[in-house]
Order: sequence, then structure tokens, then C-alpha cells
Amino acid sequence: KTRQRLVIGNWKMNGSLAANEVLLKGIRDGVENTGAHNHCIIAVCPSFPYLAQVSQVLAGSSVSWGAQDVSWQESGAFTGEVSASMLNDFNCAWALVGHSERRALHGETSEQVALKAQAALAHNITPVVCVGETLQDREQEKTLAVIQAQLAPVLALGEQAVNKMVIAYEPVWAIGTGLTASPEQAQEVHAYIRAQLNAIGAGNVQVLYGGSVKAANAASLFAMADIDGALVGGAALVAEEFLNIATA
Ligand code: G3H
Repeated sequence: KTRQRLVIGNWKMNGSLAANEVLLKGIRDGVENTGAHNHCIIAVCPSFPYLAQVSQVLAGSSVSWGAQDVSWQESGAFTGEVSASMLNDFNCAWALVGHSERRALHGETSEQVALKAQAALAHNITPVVCVGETLQDREQEKTLAVIQAQLAPVLALGEQAVNKMVIAYEPVWAIGTGLTASPEQAQEVHAYIRAQLNAIGAGNVQVLYGGSVKAANAASLFAMADIDGALVGGAALVAEEFLNIATA
């Protein structure tokens, strides 16, 4: 694979100043000691209030950071939202968009997700566009149709934009459940996403897998042809486990 590997920790709504300090230093120092950054790009996405802390602790290190969401608006009367230009102030390299928890709990549509990806790009932040089917979708054999529908507004932004993105495939039934898609199950969807990307001339975009990734299953997932890394939830909250995924 010529595509650079990428492992991103999504901390979700976890952390505190004290706990983050320990976790960040563990990751930062662990990366230097293990040389994990020679294998892949490593990033963490804390909750918004901790971006200042993360940018301070990780400054000058080989670990980058990003946000878990971004507004598609520039500024104005959007209470509770955070703009891409604000993320620039904290040197965010990444912004997750369309995580399944946001789609499910906050009603985000695929059109809104595309607007968020566009807003991030306008501020030189790499959007990590998350897609994935529910258990019901899978049981009804709608997996690929759901992925296609979620990707469509994003792919409609065109080759130039999409080439600056990352896609994350996260089957909803595998998130936080301990149920991982088998490497073959994941690869089937990754290959489909790759074909969709290829069709618009963006075949080299990194496609990450997410959903109960841990050190014990990372290597077999990463061995698949179209899996370029991982978006890690629970296992990203333990420095050693996260580093073991990055070196897998
Ligand atoms: O963004 C991360 C995913 O939702 C995966 O979470 O590793 O806890 O299953 P998890």
C-alpha cells in the first residue's frame, strides 16, 4: 500500500484536565520511544474545551490533533457550535464529521456532513468523514446502499475536495460494543468505498476502519488491502493500548 497509514483516537465525551495530562504525555512519550510515528500518522480528538491543553502538551511532538465535530457556518448566531476558523486557532489538523453518534443523536444528515467537510477544507483542516450502517441495515442487506447514500453528497463535492479528505467506515453495530467487523467484512465495505472513490479520481484517499478496534485485532484489520488505519474510541483512552494499535 502506498497510502500513508493513519490512526486517530476519538476520545468522545471523556477526559478531564488531570486525566488528559497523563494520557497525552503517555501517548507523546510512547510515540517517541516506540517510533510509532514511523509506521503511521497518529492523532487524537479530544472534546473542544481541551484543545488548548492538547495543543500545548503535543506541541513539537509527532502526534497531531483534531476536533470531534465542526460547524458548517463561518460565525454568527449558532449557539453551541464551533467553527473551523476557531479550530485553526488551536492548530487542529483534523475534524471528524458525521460520526454515527452525531447522526443518530443529533440528527445530522449526509448533506450537513458534506457541508461540514467543506467548511473544514476551507480552513485547511482534513475532514474525517464517518459512514456506517446499523445492525438493521446489515440484516436487511442494505449496507452498501446506506454507505452509498451517506457518501453521495460528499463525493458530489468533487475530486479536488475529496482528495483532501479521509473516510472512516464505522459499522454502528461495532461501535463500543466489543463486536468488531471481521477483517473480511470490513474489507468488503472498504473495497466498495474505494471503488466509489476511484470513480471520481480519488482512489488514494485513506479509508479508516472504526468499531471496537483494539491492539489484539488491529493487525488483522490493517492487513486488508483497503484498510489504511483506524478510528479508535474506547481503546484510545489507554496510552499503551492506543500505541499498540499504532504499531500493529
Ligand atoms: O470513533 C470511534 C468509533 O466510534 C469507535 O469506537 O472503538 O469505542 O468502538 P470504539
